[in-house]
Amino acid sequence: MKILGVETSCDETSAAVVADGAQILSNVVSSQIDLHRPYGGVVPELASRNHLQLIDDVIRRSLDASRSTLHDIDAVAATYGPGLASSLLIGLNTGKGIALAAGKPFVAINHMEAHLYSPVMNAPDALPMVSLIVSGGHTILVHATGIGQHTILGQTVDDAAGEAFDKVAKLMKLAYPGGPEIDRLARKGNPAAIEFPRSMLDDPSYNFSFSGLKTAVLYYLRKHGVVAAVPSGQSSGNAAGTAATTTTLEDICASFQEAVVDVLVGKTLRAAAEYRVRSVSAAGGVSLNSRLRQRLAEECERRHLRLLLAPAELCTDNAAMIAALAFHKLKAGRASDYAVDVAPSIGLGMEAAA
Ligand code: KG4
Ligand code: ZN
Repeated sequence: MKILGVETSCDETSAAVVADGAQILSNVVSSQIDLHRPYGGVVPELASRNHLQLIDDVIRRSLDASRSTLHDIDAVAATYGPGLASSLLIGLNTGKGIALAAGKPFVAINHMEAHLYSPVMNAPDALPMVSLIVSGGHTILVHATGIGQHTILGQTVDDAAGEAFDKVAKLMKLAYPGGPEIDRLARKGNPAAIEFPRSMLDDPSYNFSFSGLKTAVLYYLRKHGVVAAVPSGQSSGNAAGTAATTTTLEDICASFQEAVVDVLVGKTLRAAAEYRVRSVSAAGGVSLNSRLRQRLAEECERRHLRLLLAPAELCTDNAAMIAALAFHKLKAGRASDYAVDVAPSIGLGMEAAA
């Protein structure tokens, strides 16, 4: 069964064709990062206008790359939430329109649920698992026993992990988006240089909090400023301040990142032990973080846990994860009504409404 998936929840316009929920025949992603970079964040009005301009071409390219025509497609799926309402509308209405015109079933997909199952697309035997979903808008720890069967164990009470990376990067005047920049600079820094808070690490809940850490970095920068350790390259030019100190921009990045990773890894591994799962997974844009991947790999190996990490193109926003999950929804008899509307604030576990 071939499914055409469409994703426009934020700033990526994407279309994909996936066979039987596992075989990616095409996955075209048009990123708007360059468009939003001058503003230091996603501008909703620009995002939706750009989705509208690109969506037809992205879908056509994805069908061509998969050597399919609409005739060969068995169903159409699109993200209906969560995300920016004006962006979601473009992909959802395009997907519904194509399905209706071609007389195919339509499946509305929850973006976070698609992130959750993206690492097990080719390994359904890995379930049950504990999964950490870390993106620009969400930080959620989940216990999943089967596809579509999951319970939220905890989530952030304030900023998402990706949001913390992006905001802290902004404080240091790094390029947007800040997560990959901090990751890159942190490789040359000392993660033990500054003892930033590990908020809620010892809290018995599985919730997270990152706004205190962001404030701690702000106060540190105000008090000490930074100097760049590496004399050449971009990093020194980006330094936020020049006050005399031996702590470098790279050290601040590494110490901040270590604080985030300590909490994410600590809670994920504790949940894996409590729920007695043999598999752990991580998904979403922040799961690309090299230190997070390294620490998860080390800790899982030590505990003989199977670690499932999606390849990079499936960690950031993409339509392949939408089409893959739609296969399982259809198999479970969960096609959506053509009248389904966008649900910008829908949470994980609220997808029954579609
Ligand atoms: O899942 P995603 O592509 O979009 C949604 O938010 O749905 O995640 C984007 C987030 C951004 O906050 C970005 O800074 C962060 O993922 N990110 C990273 C890395 N790559 C992307 N954060 C830390 N380290 C990275 N290597
Ligand atoms: Zn996402």
